[in-house]
Formats: sequence, C-alpha cells, structure tokens
Amino acid sequence: MRLQVLIAVLTLAGVCDATHLSSARLSQVYDKMNSFAKYSWENGTKAQAILEWTYPDLSVFSTASSSNPFPASLSSNQIPQIVDIARTTMNNRPATNASGIMGGSPLLEDGAAADPASLGGAILLANVSTGNAAVKNVGYGDAARMEVAYLLYGVPRSNTGAISHRTEQAQYWSDFTFMVPPFLATYAGFSNNQTYLQIAYDQCRLYRDRLRRPMSSGALWAHIQGGTGNLDPGLWATGNGWAAYGMLRVMATIQKSQWAGQMGSQRGDLASWVGEIMDGCKGYVTPNGLLRNYVNDTSSFEETSASALIAATGLRLSTLGVTDSYVPMALNLLSSASRYVSNSTGVLEQVVDPLDWSKQGQDSPEGQSFMIMAYAAHGDWDRAGRKGATGVDGDGLGGYTSGAVARWGAGMGATAVAALVAGLAVLA
Ligand SMILES: *[C@@H]1O[C@H](CO)[C@@H](O)[C@H](O)[C@H]1NC(C)=O
Ligand SMILES: *[C@@H]1O[C@H](CO)[C@@H](O)[C@H](O)[C@H]1NC(C)=O
Ligand SMILES: *[C@@H]1O[C@H](CO)[C@@H](O)[C@H](O)[C@H]1NC(C)=O
Ligand SMILES: *[C@@H]1O[C@H](CO)[C@@H](O)[C@H](O)[C@H]1NC(C)=O
Ligand SMILES: *[C@@H]1O[C@H](CO)[C@@H](O)[C@H](O)[C@H]1NC(C)=O
Ligand SMILES: *[C@@H]1O[C@H](CO)[C@@H](O)[C@H](O)[C@H]1NC(C)=O
Repeated sequence: MRLQVLIAVLTLAGVCDATHLSSARLSQVYDKMNSFAKYSWENGTKAQAILEWTYPDLSVFSTASSSNPFPASLSSNQIPQIVDIARTTMNNRPATNASGIMGGSPLLEDGAAADPASLGGAILLANVSTGNAAVKNVGYGDAARMEVAYLLYGVPRSNTGAISHRTEQAQYWSDFTFMVPPFLATYAGFSNNQTYLQIAYDQCRLYRDRLRRPMSSGALWAHIQGGTGNLDPGLWATGNGWAAYGMLRVMATIQKSQWAGQMGSQRGDLASWVGEIMDGCKGYVTPNGLLRNYVNDTSSFEETSASALIAATGLRLSTLGVTDSYVPMALNLLSSASRYVSNSTGVLEQVVDPLDWSKQGQDSPEGQSFMIMAYAAHGDWDRAGRKGATGVDGDGLGGYTSGAVARWGAGMGATAVAALVAGLAVLA
C-alpha cells in the first residue's frame, strides 16, 4: 500500500513537469492555425509556419546541406499547402493597377502597406511550383515583382528612407520587420539580385534605429512611432517577437545565399540586434515562465503567443550556430506557453487579441503559428544534440503531455502531494 502511494506521488511529479505537447495535440494546434488565419499577415505568418513545419528543406532555417530555399524548380504537387495560400491570395488580389507608380501593385488591398508582403515568400514558391501560372490573368512571379515595386516606390517613406508600415503616412511599426525584410531577402534569392538583400538589411537597421529602447541589459523595441494617431510607445512583447524573428530570417537568408561570404558584417549586425532583444526580454520572464504583453510593465498580463515566438527565436539562434546562450530561456518560455494549449481543442490560451494589442483575447491565429514555429525549432534543436541545455532535463520540455492538464497539474501539485503524504501518514 505504502509503495503504491509512493509510486502515485512520483508519477504525479512526472506529470507536473511534462509540457512537451504530444503529436496529436500539435496536429490540433496546426489545424486551428489553418482554420483561424484570416487577415493578410495571419495568412503570411501561417505560410511561414507551414514552411518550417511541413516543408523544412525550403525554409532558410534548415541546416541540411541538401536544402535550398530558392529552388529553380519544384514539382507541381510538392508544396500543396503553400500553393493553396498563394492561390487564395492571388484570388483576393486587386486587379493590377496599370497606373501604379513604377509598375508597383500590392498583393492585397490593406491599410497596412507592409502586411501583404508577408505572403510574398509563398507567392515566390508557388511561382516555381506552377511555372509562373496565372491566376485571374496575373502570374505568381509577376505579382511578386509588382509587390516589390509597390514597396520600393509606392509606399510612403520616413526622412531616413524607412519604408512605412502604413499606406497613408510614414509610420514605424515593429511588426514591419517580420512582414517586409524577409520577403525582400527571399526575393533577392529568387531573382539573383543582391540589391534586395541589402535593402532588407537596411530596413531592419532603420527600424531598429527608430524603435530601439536600451534596457539595463540589451534593448527592447517600442511598438509604433512616427506620424500621427495610433502611436504606441510601449514595449509590446509580440512586436519584439516580430522584430527579432524577422531579423533572424533575414540573417538566415544571407547565410543561405550566394552572398554569405560578402555580407558577413550585415550577418553579424543582425545576429547582435536579435541578441539584444533576447537580452532585453531575459530580465522580464515572470516566475510563471512567460513574458508580459508589455514586457516591462508588471500590470500587464502574461502573454503566451509572444512567449512562443521569442522561444522560437532563442532555439533558432542555437540551431543556426549563432549562440546557445538563450536556450534555457527559450525552453522555459516554450514549456510554459505549452501549458496554455487547451487539451481538448489545441487552442493557445491567454493570448493578446491580434486586433487590439492592449487586450487579452480568446484565441490568436498568429499565436497558433508561433507555437508551430517554436516546436519546429525545438525539433531541430533536439535533433542537433540539444546544445546549450545546461541545467535542463531531457528535451527541456519535460517529456510529453496531452495539453492543459499539465497546467492544472502544476497548480494542484502541491495540494495533491500534501494530500497523498497525509494519506501515507494515515496508512502508516
Ligand atoms: C486568408 O486565408 C483564408 C483561407 O484560409 C481566406 O479565406 C482569406 O480570404 C485569406 N485572407 C486574405 C486577406 O487573403
Ligand atoms: C492607381 O494608382 C495610382 C497611383 O498609385 C492612384 O493614384 C490611383 O488612385 C489608382 N487607381 C485605382 C483605381 O486604384
Ligand atoms: C517565376 O517563375 C518563372 C519560371 O516559371 C521565372 O522565369 C521567373 O523569374 C519567376 N519570377 C520570380 C519573380 O521569381
Ligand atoms: C537589381 O535590382 C535593382 C533594384 O531593382 C536594379 O536597379 C538592378 O538593375 C538589378 N540588378 C540586376 C543585375 O538585375
Ligand atoms: C518600460 O521601458 C520604457 C523604455 O525604457 C520606459 O519608457 C517605460 O517607462 C518603462 N515602463 C515601465 C512600466 O517601467
Ligand atoms: C483535459 O484536462 C482536464 C483537466 O485536468 C481533464 O479532466 C481532461 O481529462 C483532459 N482531457 C483530455 C482530452 O486530455
């Protein structure tokens, strides 16, 4: 009897620590990502997550020597999930405006000049996979080219040359860094033109110059600055995730490109700018293992979607061979965010409302994608030999769980253990 109770206590302790989502749960997370995504940037973020999870050899994060993110050809059914998103985008695309400046035309009509560009990478891959097939009389490759011309010549600029996040005025949003520079960098790879890679780097630099706020360690980015109306000087967690992950994608694109050797200093800058945000976050991870919606504001709620994106960044810094020093923080964040995935639906809970950055929402399409990116990164990190996992048990996520049960388990653990110990005392 006593032995059985002891086994129960030990088993419970194991369950409390387990936060690695099972593959069945991750399929639910993926399905919800697919069904929730609706707006341009949500579809673009989803395309990126699908690339990393389902077609990893086409992602700039792949470390396989055989991988090529800028293939000259792909068979027509090789990337159906990406072509699906690209086709939907082309069907929603406004008719080409022949009078657009320098032949520019956005992929989608959107008040955010930057957001449709998040779909550009999917469009370029669909171009290769379909042989520049036409949708509504416009070829995928032509649509990508017009999107680039729109960004370069049609969108307002700041006095330093930063391309605006918005269509109506020059304004900096940290979100831009994920939407535009990675697309321009990818376009460089597909068009064999280094100029676009340099522009991608320059735009990251200009956005950092304007939004960066030094912290006691590292720095964090303000959310929205410049222009009028809608300003948000706060250090929004998701905005810092957009910035860090966007710059990391540009860095990885340089690394994968034919110009990796020539662009060492740009690579180094981007890596250090990503590291600076990771350092900025480090001091603000809560005892519960999450980042707050506004990172340095203790009255702000603990937010899981940005926590997942920063976790993905930390693990990718390791798999890309930049540094392992953010691995423990990343594992802590991912393990904590995993406890907020509903064990019945696969929905990531306690997320910021994607349409109102000041409020907590019910669910988040981008949050679902961030979890997939983080687990894709974790899988690669695990297979690469779990570098930097000092003081971390196993895979850093404590084995497998079916979902939110672990959160309740952790919360109730002390009570349950006390009850079992009491039971043991009675039996003894
Ligand atoms: C995003 O994708 C969904 C289908 O998954 C589609 O219904 C929606 O129109 C797309 N949004 C845009 C802006 O193209
Ligand atoms: C076409 O583009 C021009 C230049 O950007 C703009 O002034 C005009 O309003 C656009 N026309 C339509 C019908 O969208
Ligand atoms: C689109 O694909 C065609 C080949 O099918 C290629 O010639 C063209 O360069 C591609 N366009 C872009 C922008 O990559
Ligand atoms: C590369 O792109 C830039 C910017 O559009 C253009 O000015 C230049 O001519 C292109 N270079 C080549 C070799 O096509
Ligand atoms: C957070 O950091 C910013 C930038 O340094 C600062 O302006 C702000 O007052 C800080 N907020 C809190 C709540 O400490
Ligand atoms: C989800 O968690 C609840 C609460 O711990 C538990 O009762 C339930 O059995 C779990 N459901 C599944 C499908 O794992």
